[in-house]
Amino acid sequence: MTQANNASIESLLAETRVFQPPAPDTLGFKAPGGRGPRGWHIHSLEEFKRLHKRSIENPEGFWAEEARTVEWFAPWTRVLDWKAPDARWFVDAKLNVCHNCVDRHVSAGYGDETAIVWEGEPLGVRTGHPAPGSKYAKTPEIKRLTYRQVQSEVCRLANALKALGVKKGDVVTLYMPMVPELAIACLACARIGAPHSVIFGGFAAQAIVERVEDARSKVIITADGGYRRGDVVKLKDAVDQACAKTSLVKDVLVLRRTGHAVQWHDGSAGGKRDHWWHETVPKMSDQCPCEPMDAEDMLFLLYTSGSTGKPKGIVHTTAGYLVFVQMTARLAFNLIPSSGQLFWCSADIGWVTGHSYVLYGAMANRVATLIYEGAPNFPDNARFWDIIERHKVTQFYTAPTAIRSFMKWGTEFPARHDLSSLKVLGTVGEPINPEAWIWYHEHVGGARCPIVDTYWQTETGGHVITPLPGAVPTKPGSCTLPMLGVDAAVVNEQGEELPPDRGGLLVIRKPWPGMLRGIFRDPDRYVQAYWSRVFGKGAGGERTPYYFSADGARRDKDGYFWVMGRVDDVINVSGHRLGTMEVESALVSHPAVAEAAVVGMPHAIKGTGICAFVTLKSEFLRTLPGHPDDAVRKALSDHVVREIGAIARPDSIRFADGLPKTRSGKIMRRLLRDVAAGVEKITQDTTTLEDFSVVARLRESDEE
Ligand code: WT7
Repeated sequence: MTQANNASIESLLAETRVFQPPAPDTLGFKAPGGRGPRGWHIHSLEEFKRLHKRSIENPEGFWAEEARTVEWFAPWTRVLDWKAPDARWFVDAKLNVCHNCVDRHVSAGYGDETAIVWEGEPLGVRTGHPAPGSKYAKTPEIKRLTYRQVQSEVCRLANALKALGVKKGDVVTLYMPMVPELAIACLACARIGAPHSVIFGGFAAQAIVERVEDARSKVIITADGGYRRGDVVKLKDAVDQACAKTSLVKDVLVLRRTGHAVQWHDGSAGGKRDHWWHETVPKMSDQCPCEPMDAEDMLFLLYTSGSTGKPKGIVHTTAGYLVFVQMTARLAFNLIPSSGQLFWCSADIGWVTGHSYVLYGAMANRVATLIYEGAPNFPDNARFWDIIERHKVTQFYTAPTAIRSFMKWGTEFPARHDLSSLKVLGTVGEPINPEAWIWYHEHVGGARCPIVDTYWQTETGGHVITPLPGAVPTKPGSCTLPMLGVDAAVVNEQGEELPPDRGGLLVIRKPWPGMLRGIFRDPDRYVQAYWSRVFGKGAGGERTPYYFSADGARRDKDGYFWVMGRVDDVINVSGHRLGTMEVESALVSHPAVAEAAVVGMPHAIKGTGICAFVTLKSEFLRTLPGHPDDAVRKALSDHVVREIGAIARPDSIRFADGLPKTRSGKIMRRLLRDVAAGVEKITQDTTTLEDFSVVARLRESDEE
């Protein structure tokens, strides 16, 4: 049913260890338990369970109370309008997310507190690797921005966007490295009510074209490039290639980061298309009012993979998202303003984790957020630990795939550094195998930091199942219990909740403020993807759809959730979400390919690797003497990288002269998954298989 690797499922099933939360004072946080002016801080399991029960029994009361922790320009008339599957939260209220993340802190007298600590990847002048024995040859570039400085920078950029004609409701595309200006750009968009659509810098030009066209976005903010593992990633070049394929983009604002030579283009109408950030933005006024936004105005659009080849533009709106990320960030990471905390989420802002926690969650809570530009293994495998030591990071949030790389590199790297500033560790993106959890706990957390395994999705906006570090005992591999206000359950196809230890579908039975509001310009797909699979009973006993996560899970006797992985055609490669169909479309767009099927396969570091089964066109085969060889594999693999980006590079390409299909012509993916995983005995039902011999031949197609 799922893509997770069998060995890791077995170790998850066998896992019985329980780790108690540390006492509140040893967590190092002064906040008392109970409800303060900034909302709840929870220090015991009983208190958590009591509050959770209350939040589910009276969600509107609970969320109304929670919503008092943000600042509103005008109050709501109703907490929730719910006509499944359409939710409107805090109806008629007016507010601005940038105001809540920046201005309210400045107005309250905290303008001089640190908002952003940024570290670039290169170490001073790039002179190559440090001499043996010396720590680092040069120090990296570091910037610190206070909330007041962020406010002026955001205002300047907001004014520059207005000068380019950007108005409330216009989607602005961001394709940038991990620099403070990316955070500033998101906030500037939020300030003027222009939804941002951030495209991860690892995606290729074609991905920009598709997203810009779907969003009808006329303005792109980018940089000449960014640094990654010592190399320059040429972002502006990709934007140029994208703009050659779409006439939509009228203006490109370019930040100078690397300083390498870039091409400069005029607009199609003759005016300037490309504008340097440093020539336009600093000239602007540092005053710009926050646009009063309706609670349900779109805050951002973020494209993510689904079961078809076309990415979905996930829509998040203003009020519900803000209330939800502010609360979940505070509770899951124990964020406390003015307490000297430095929160570091290593995700790129191009993913939802970066949106919700690097940026909005941390800043709404008035905690300093660390942004690091580059790779964990530059100049060596200790870079992350060096950053934690030098900056005294208090909460660190990363992905299981990164932890597995750290494990492979060895314990000597974290051991070289003083990591005693750490109080809470987090993980997200895919199920974490208990071995990685324990390693993280011991070698990074010094066996003293609670680990929050946060389960959520681009669609959920923020954490929906996660331990709270001071309250919920943890079990390695389990994301534990649903967040306050979230009614998550494991059900069967009929929507009935399953007894402990039975595998089923992970659903959410009630709306929550951070939920997606739709798929941009595709209301039918919204209903079909999330609200048509599982139905249950609503408050009055009526048939109502449940939110379908597309993940399989079970709960244990303590009610703890154990997520087993996706049950659809989405795979999680190094914590990056990819549709197998997207990779297939990229493959078949190569002239040599007749047909392709892509499935996930177990991978020690990535969690899931990409395995592609490809049949080549016979006319192409005829031009090759002998059998297709590694050169063809490389050509196809490079083609996928050009079409989608490096994250989609197949780990294995197997050639076949036919793909296993049912009599009705559907590719039998489950069977391919078994072949890819090297399962010895095919237990799948193959009675509908048209030609069984193809399976035998596929097994022989293994590249090794
Ligand atoms: C998918 C969503 C939300 C931020 C990053 C990923 C998987 C995510 C966990 C976790 C087990 C997890 C699920 C989910 N996933 N976190 N803690 N335990 N699985 O966001 O790219 O939208 O991917 O990631 O399969 O459906 P995303």
